[in-house]
Amino acid sequence: MASITASVYTSHVPAIGAALDLGKTGEAYWQPLFKGYEFSKQWMKDNTPDVIFLVYNDHATAFSLEMIPTFAIGTAAEFQPADEGWGPRPVPKVIGHPELASHIAQSVIQQDFDLTIVNRMDVDHGLTVPLSLMCGQPEAWPCPVIPFAVNVVQYPVPSGRRCYMLGKAIRRAIESFDRPLKVQIWGTGGMSHQLQGPRAGLINREFDNAFLDQLIADPETLAAKPHIDYVREAGSEGIELVMWLIARGAMSDKAPTLRHRFYHVPASNTAVGHLILENNT
Ligand code: DHB
Ligand code: FE
Repeated sequence: MASITASVYTSHVPAIGAALDLGKTGEAYWQPLFKGYEFSKQWMKDNTPDVIFLVYNDHATAFSLEMIPTFAIGTAAEFQPADEGWGPRPVPKVIGHPELASHIAQSVIQQDFDLTIVNRMDVDHGLTVPLSLMCGQPEAWPCPVIPFAVNVVQYPVPSGRRCYMLGKAIRRAIESFDRPLKVQIWGTGGMSHQLQGPRAGLINREFDNAFLDQLIADPETLAAKPHIDYVREAGSEGIELVMWLIARGAMSDKAPTLRHRFYHVPASNTAVGHLILENNT
């Protein structure tokens, strides 16, 4: 049977992608940020999974106000990089895993979560920046990736509770796939940031670090946090953090092993948070 070996959490700031693509990682501004991912890149080499289930949000690249799926699973054989505004990053195409993705869709929908099945979808910085941070700049990504897009852009967005419960359904789905695949689940986006309006530039270190503490040790309680708390304390785009609860919900009920924790301000207008949790079953 397939199993979930670990979960990875990271911000997806598009300027990080630009810094990588333009060869700016050695600049004084960016050095401390990329240093925080050195351990992670080695860990990723030592613990390459068979598949990554990557929870992220689309930023009006594949979807728009014309169509707003709450939860969309990418079942295609491959996905092309694209981006809103900036155009596609020069990164490898993303190879999917249609068999596992279809199985997860079947299982999760039968567990009463309505997923949108997407057979053609471009993927933006929400997905490619986490891959770059964890895998560097390879010719090809080290394994297939199942993109799982969550609407955290246009209200109504799903609650933290629903995301957490969905993670548990995804765990049951993966663990019932009849092949011995090692699967990592990634939760991306966040941490505190607000990109527009009078509060643009908002960063809340205290909130972010309390979120990391609670995500590790008490995700059940964290899942009850209402939207308004994210928006008030972590800024309008801080709501991206509910996606981390999907990945955390997919972990076993035993306490995970904290392999790596990193927090850095600033990256563009954003606080960057990052965790690696290994699963204990
Ligand atoms: C920015 C955009 C994002 O989608 C994000 O999550 C963080 C920062 C930006 O434009 O700086
Ligand atoms: Fe974003």
